[in-house]
Amino acid sequence: MHSEPFYDPAKSYLDNFEHGPFGLFANTSPSFPATPPRRQFLGQPVFAPFGIPAGPLINGKFVKAALDMGFDIPVYKTVRTRRQACHPWPNVLGVRVTGDLKPGQTLVAGTDYSEPLSITNSFGVPSFDPDFWQPDMAEAAAYARPGQVVVGSFQATLPENGNSAAYLQDFRLGARLVKETGVKVIEVNLSCPNEGTAHLLCFDIARSRQVVEAIKEEIGSLPLVIKLAYYQNHAKLREFLNEVGGAVDGIASINTIAAEVRDASGRQALPGEGRLRSGVCGSAVKWAGLEMASTLARLRAELGMKFAILGVGGAGTPEAFDEYRRAGADVVMSATAAMWNPRLAQQIKEHAHEL
Ligand SMILES: Cc1cc2nc3c(=O)[nH]c(=O)nc-3n(C[C@H](O)[C@H](O)[C@H](O)COP(=O)(O)O)c2cc1C
Repeated sequence: MHSEPFYDPAKSYLDNFEHGPFGLFANTSPSFPATPPRRQFLGQPVFAPFGIPAGPLINGKFVKAALDMGFDIPVYKTVRTRRQACHPWPNVLGVRVTGDLKPGQTLVAGTDYSEPLSITNSFGVPSFDPDFWQPDMAEAAAYARPGQVVVGSFQATLPENGNSAAYLQDFRLGARLVKETGVKVIEVNLSCPNEGTAHLLCFDIARSRQVVEAIKEEIGSLPLVIKLAYYQNHAKLREFLNEVGGAVDGIASINTIAAEVRDASGRQALPGEGRLRSGVCGSAVKWAGLEMASTLARLRAELGMKFAILGVGGAGTPEAFDEYRRAGADVVMSATAAMWNPRLAQQIKEHAHEL
């Protein structure tokens, strides 16, 4: 069942930022279960291990509305240490996929957001200056009641000259700035498709390790979650975990999966250079998120590690929530489905079996 989305794809990012959230998220008031929280997420009590991953909650107003609507683990959209403009509109389009997204598939995009709901999103990880987002994130984090926890997501900006020392420094600064907001969990995006789809940071194991070590030096005992892309190669994921898995508190996966996206007449659907291929999310990528959750759970046991698994990707129904939990996810999150279904957290609390 679809409602008016809380992020409106027909409007620009700035319009959404200033005037959103929309639909049921526009006028929320807090409502909480009568019983105390029974679950834990990285040391924090939570009512339900369900939330919204980095992306659709683009500022504190969106995060607060999500908390009011019972999404107990909302992630404040990925920020940077400096201002960065958003890619040109449109930034979200519906894509028609029958069944699972397959490697190399070309998709037709438009404004049809009917079930089964999959979309492409292309923002370029815009950010305001820390002068804006630090107090905004701090206020949103403080709004969470006992039983809820706001996660702050960030990433570094690769300098134009590719200077890796400066890149690492920017991760340190970002971690420090997010920590200062008082969030109880920090997430670093190692799978940003906009920093070069072929060269996602999480596929560079040595550099990922350096980045994680630098961040941990800055944030001390504050829990750190890393956001990973889908790994087709499980041996490579094992290698990654061997190097990095012991140093992190949680792994969120998956991010979007890139595919070629054209309009009905075969033209590039998203205007501008480098946007023919774009990240796909929603029901067509659920198979990949589930595969990652179960592979991470198996490797975690084999390697004797402790990180929490945050299952992401097409988790848009109570049944999908249950599938993720059975696959081994400690926490489940939905971006695409939640955007069009503001009652999703309530429905999961009412109907899921694996809470
Ligand atoms: C509108 C939108 C914006 C997103 N922006 C980010 C982001 O800034 N950082 C990030 O790590 N992931 C981002 N994502 C990816 C989601 O966190 C998630 O990994 C992906 O959408 C798969 O989940 P889903 O199938 O429930 O949408 C975004 C997703 C959407 C739909």
